Amino acid sequence: MSKKKPNKQWVQSQNKDYFVKQARQSHYRSRAVYKLQEIDQKDKLFKPDICVVDLGSAPGSWSQYASEHIGANGRVIAVDILSMEPIEKVKFVLGDFTDEHIENQCIDHIGEQGADLVISDMAPNLTGIRTTDQARSMALAELVYEFCHNALKPGGDLLIKLFEGAGTREFRQLLKEHFAKVVTRKPSASRDNSREFYVLARSYGL
Ligand SMILES: C[S@@+](CC[C@H](N)C(=O)[O-])C[C@H]1O[C@@H](n2cnc3c(N)ncnc32)[C@H](O)[C@@H]1O
Repeated sequence: MSKKKPNKQWVQSQNKDYFVKQARQSHYRSRAVYKLQEIDQKDKLFKPDICVVDLGSAPGSWSQYASEHIGANGRVIAVDILSMEPIEKVKFVLGDFTDEHIENQCIDHIGEQGADLVISDMAPNLTGIRTTDQARSMALAELVYEFCHNALKPGGDLLIKLFEGAGTREFRQLLKEHFAKVVTRKPSASRDNSREFYVLARSYGL
């Protein structure tokens, strides 16, 4: 597969970025790990022996972090369209999450007991047309929400990335119907000029 060359401005800003440097030193594959870490330190997402589903997992820093915080018997099922280097305790599914077969593969790997935690850092490929990008992002979020009905065990949690814009308020309302608590998080590693933020929905079905 041919790789697109990153532009010079992006490379320069990455080199200056505190979280990029931290990730390199700590052998994490992406600065995104610090978003998850900050939310986890505040909200205590990970516990020993849980089953975690990581949607949009590549290059893999969230899966690395999850694998380090679920004890010896925990499991991670990770999915991405892009391939990902193996990680201990992580079962990787290569494919498009919007494809029903891929979603079913995840459900099979989760097993009858259900998952304790779904984390989604997925973002659709951007077209640059804001309304289209926002609609695609919300469509993906709704699929994740539907997946939670099949995947999460009662009491399970969902952490999902959203982009500020049309549909996010309604989406939070939808989550409130099925989760006991819904909160918003904007971790320090999430750039101020980015519309991204995270919603944490806790205690599914309780
Ligand atoms: C911001 S990156 C995730 C970074 C990851 N959390 C980490 O820590 O390394 C978003 C990922 O979502 C994936 N993605 C977007 N749409 C997807 C889809 N429909 N199915 C599977 N993966 C998807 C992209 O390929 C990309 O790797």
